[in-house]
Amino acid sequence: MGERTLVLIKPDAVRRGLVGEVIGRFERKGLAIDEMRLRTMDPALADEHYAEHVDKPFYPPLKEFMTSGPLVAMVLSGDQAIEVVRALTGATDGRKAAPGTIRGDFSLSNRENLVHASDSPESAKREIELWFPELA
Ligand code: CMP
Repeated sequence: MGERTLVLIKPDAVRRGLVGEVIGRFERKGLAIDEMRLRTMDPALADEHYAEHVDKPFYPPLKEFMTSGPLVAMVLSGDQAIEVVRALTGATDGRKAAPGTIRGDFSLSNRENLVHASDSPESAKREIELWFPELA
């Protein structure tokens, strides 16, 4: 099984019909899909998920965006999955993310950047418990 990480395929990707493209990249890399669910984030879940960002100036529009429509939440697993998924995802700002990464290939924004991926073992554990309590 290796390591587990939480990925959100954000509402912009769902609206743009990029869910298959994004999941395909993770699958072709060799990561396993342990859990997957289409869900609309409610405001309380947004505040919990982004607890470390709630006081930042970019948070209100981020919350508006993340609750604006359905997203795909998934747990991926594989050897060093947290780091591998972050590398496939690319830098936060789609304008600066390297070509070949998901954000580098499909996003021109630092907010609507298609994918969220856990950034450490601690955040992966916390986020998986938040989105998929049945796995805990
Ligand atoms: P994510 O990986 O989900 O983690 C926090 C999110 O906040 C990030 O992706 C972006 O969607 C958003 N974000 C981070 N920094 C900024 C910023 N400076 N301006 C707007 N949105 C941001």
